[in-house]
Amino acid sequence: MKQLFLTWALCLCTLFLGAQEDPVIVFINADQGQHTIDKHIYGHFAEHLGRCIYGGFYVGEDNEDIPHTNGVRNDVLAALKDLKVPNLRWPGGCFADTYHWKDGIGPKDQRPTIVNRWWGGVTEDNSFGTHDFLNMCEMLGAEAYLSANVGSGTVQELIDWVQYTNHDGVSPMADLRRENGREEPWNVKFWGIGNETWGCGGNMTAEYYANIYRQFATFVPGWSSNTQAIRYASGASDDDYHWTEVLMRDVPHRLLEGVALHHYSVIDWGAKGPSTTFTEQQYFTTMERALLMEELVTRHSTIMDKYDPDKKVDLVVDEWGGWYDVEPGTNPGFLFQQNTMRDAMIAGATLNIFNNHADRVRMANLAQTINVLQAVILTDEEKMLLTPTFHVMRMYNVHQDATLLPIQFQNVDYELDGRKLPALSVSASQDSMGVIHVSLVNIDAHASHDVSLLLRGTDKSQISGEILTSENLQDYNAFDNPEKVKPSPFDDYQLSDGTLNVTLPPFSVVVLEVK
Ligand code: AHR
Repeated sequence: MKQLFLTWALCLCTLFLGAQEDPVIVFINADQGQHTIDKHIYGHFAEHLGRCIYGGFYVGEDNEDIPHTNGVRNDVLAALKDLKVPNLRWPGGCFADTYHWKDGIGPKDQRPTIVNRWWGGVTEDNSFGTHDFLNMCEMLGAEAYLSANVGSGTVQELIDWVQYTNHDGVSPMADLRRENGREEPWNVKFWGIGNETWGCGGNMTAEYYANIYRQFATFVPGWSSNTQAIRYASGASDDDYHWTEVLMRDVPHRLLEGVALHHYSVIDWGAKGPSTTFTEQQYFTTMERALLMEELVTRHSTIMDKYDPDKKVDLVVDEWGGWYDVEPGTNPGFLFQQNTMRDAMIAGATLNIFNNHADRVRMANLAQTINVLQAVILTDEEKMLLTPTFHVMRMYNVHQDATLLPIQFQNVDYELDGRKLPALSVSASQDSMGVIHVSLVNIDAHASHDVSLLLRGTDKSQISGEILTSENLQDYNAFDNPEKVKPSPFDDYQLSDGTLNVTLPPFSVVVLEVK
């Protein structure tokens, strides 16, 4: 009898509490869009690190087991075309400041080898070089973003690289390119001047690097008759606001189109934790680190506003993503990790942050595309799978080059052991056809949340949607179960009088289309 009473009381209590929780009201102002969400926010990063290039993108022209085009995997090309990859950053990362591009041109059997000292100490045979990368970008329809070697390279090397890739006239490097089989220049637009110059790129101070940047950046433009070179300065790590301050203050803005920022969602550099068997506490801390991006972008932007109120200089988050312990039994220098619903949460929430800061954040690069860190694709010899992060990036590509719609809402908390995080994240845009897309993330590990979207300034009423969620936060796609986590149609919504009511399950990403 006592048991029955307790059950009855519990039900009543749950009902009562359920009725207490009002839906979160999100105001979407469909007629007040001002800023374009630059498609380059959806960029990727491919470093000569572990199995990102070799085995990931590139399997060699002579490979008879894996279908490829000029050595680049066909399955990878097809998947990345689905993502609409707008730009790809290469060849690093830390590797870039040890890379001498002339080692990677000409007959492959005559190229020198080097030691990849940052990543596993393996021998790099330079078989994937400038032609391979830039031709691959053409196949993908992606802009190339080349990271120049400042740490151990010279200004002359950079001048030669720009001339080699971009000059359409007669010049020593353009002629060498033609000798190597490429008549037309590639017209590379994006040039990174060094990488992490405060660390692996040379351990410089901000003040010293600002001068070095001025020197290198001087020689980049002027090699292409139809491409304006965009120069990005190696940026701050996380909350190093001094770095951004010095670059914005000391570099004349005629030499600077963007300043970078790197931020990884890592629990603790000394104890990163496992990629799949993490606890809820570890999940919470990872999300705390991921959501810190909001503060970082806001505060770096505020500094930039001081020196550049017209917002001409881009904030370029050219490395971001989750970073965990490598998979047991794999080379610690290869940074190979699995990818779960936790990564989907990082991706969804981070991309919403970038969208909502579209007035300043104009490029970002997820680290890294294949088999490294928060990858969108994993490969194992001839097998390939798409990670939960891939699915989020694909669902969100509707925002590329769309107009950001201003939103307002009062968040609810996701609580754990007395700690709190905002549970929801939202961004909205309208594309050139007038179609509205709203991306919503609920990072709460346990509670669903009801959301009422108040669409102001539009009478559109045809709704469809997609959802990515799974049974457990720790779920991932493995080679023996590659489609465990995948998107499905979302129909948990009702539209009445211009209000769209949706229920977001725990740890889910939803993208709605309104037309
Ligand atoms: O993405 C892996 C490494 O992280 C990059 O090489 C470096 O720039 C950063 O520290």
